[in-house]
Amino acid sequence: MKIAPSVLSADFANLGREVEKVSLAGADYIHLDVMDGIFVPNISFGAGVIKSIRPYTSVPFDVHLMIEKPRRYINDFLNAGADIITIHKEAEPELDKTIREIKLGGARCGISIKPATDVNDVLEYLPFIDLVLVMTVEPGFGGQSFIADMMSKVRVLRNEIDKNAFSTLIEVDGGIDSNTVKIAEKAGVDICVAGTSVYKAADVKKAISTLKLSQK
Ligand code: DX5
Ligand code: ZN
Repeated sequence: MKIAPSVLSADFANLGREVEKVSLAGADYIHLDVMDGIFVPNISFGAGVIKSIRPYTSVPFDVHLMIEKPRRYINDFLNAGADIITIHKEAEPELDKTIREIKLGGARCGISIKPATDVNDVLEYLPFIDLVLVMTVEPGFGGQSFIADMMSKVRVLRNEIDKNAFSTLIEVDGGIDSNTVKIAEKAGVDICVAGTSVYKAADVKKAISTLKLSQK
C-alpha cells in the first residue's frame, strides 16, 4: 500500500520539519488538505504555506482542495509545487476545464467525492484523470472514524479501472489506521491518506511501515 501522511495532524509551528520527518520515514506522498471554511466548515492553509514547505522534501505533494470553485486557484497551487491536484466533484461547476488546466500545468489531476456522492458520477472522468479520491469520512476534520460502507465505491472503481485498463489510482482519505488499511487494501485501494495514525504515533517510522505492509 502507498501511504500519504496528511499534515493536518502535524505540528503547524514546524511544518517544514514535519514534512521532512515523514519523508525520511517512508511516505510515498505528502497529503496537503486545503480548506476554505465554505466547502467544509474548517479553514486550514493555502498555496503560500505549501510553497514554503516545498523545499523540505522531494516526495510528491498530493494537494487535496476542499474549496468552492477550485478552478480560481489552480495556477497558485501549480506554482506552489503541487504534483497532484485533487478537486471535489461537488465543488466545481467547470470540471472539464479545470481537469484540462491542471494537466496542461504539468500536474496530475484527481477528483474526490464526499460520502454522500454517488460513485457513478465520476466514472465518465476516469479516462481523463490520474486519481480518484474516495472520502471515507465527511471532509473537514482529522481524527474521525472510517466509513467502511465507502468500500462499495472502491470496488466499483477498481472493476471499472481494471476492465478498461485505465491507469487511474484509487485513494481513500479519513480514519485510516493499522486495521482499516487492511479493509481498504482488500477493496482495491492504491493509496491511503493517514493523518492521526501517522502524526500522533509515538514512532512515526513504525506507523508508516505498518501501514505500508498492506502491500499491493
Ligand atoms: C479530512 C482530510 C483528511 C484528514 C485525515 O477532511 O481530508 O486528509 O487529514 O485525517 P485522519 O487520518 O486523522 O482521519
Ligand atoms: Zn485529505
